[in-house]
Amino acid sequence: MNAYELNKIFGAVVSSVLAVTVIGFLANMLVHPTKLEKSVLDIKVSDEAPAAGAAAAAPVALDPVGPLLAKADAEAGKAAAKNCASCHTFDKGGKNGVGPNLWDVVGNKQAHIAGFGYSPALQGAGGIWDFDKLNAFVANPKAVVPGTRMAYAGMRRAEDRANLIAYLRTLSDSPKPLP
Ligand code: HEC
Repeated sequence: MNAYELNKIFGAVVSSVLAVTVIGFLANMLVHPTKLEKSVLDIKVSDEAPAAGAAAAAPVALDPVGPLLAKADAEAGKAAAKNCASCHTFDKGGKNGVGPNLWDVVGNKQAHIAGFGYSPALQGAGGIWDFDKLNAFVANPKAVVPGTRMAYAGMRRAEDRANLIAYLRTLSDSPKPLP
């Protein structure tokens, strides 16, 4: 390779570097990126520390269960209640297990079985197990009653929960009217 050829190579390198620089410069002139005033991703970070034991279970906003209850299948709900049977009985006057007997729980007060050893969290909740509260509790117990002893991860499908609640509703001498 002689000096002339080397020169040609060098010239090619220099001119391509120059071309890239010029193109970059022109591109910068043509395109003006505008900075957003505010991030599009408006992520809210709660500064509330999660309650102990409430393993980052953010309370989920659920749709009202009423419309699903209207077409729910209590028989299918009875089958779904097998998920709960390791801890709960469902018959009138049935024994408490790990969890309280669930006869007549719909529309009843929270911690409805006198004498069952509820957690302080549930004992002190003081509310009524209406349809939506039950729905939310079955979906994610710890989100509804932080500190509950009910060690159940939650039933995901809204239809399954509606069927289950429709079944729970039948477990009463005078079932509550549907919402
Ligand atoms: C691993 C055991 C376990 C399983 C499984 C379980 N539960 Fe429970 N459940 C409990 C315990 C324990 C409590 C009492 C919680 C407390 O005191 O905080 C409870 C409480 C409840 C209560 C509140 C009762 C009241 O008197 O206030 C309802 C309603 C309930 N469970 C429904 C269900 C349903 C429905 C299922 C199935 C989808 C289920 N549970 C599965 C253990 C369980």
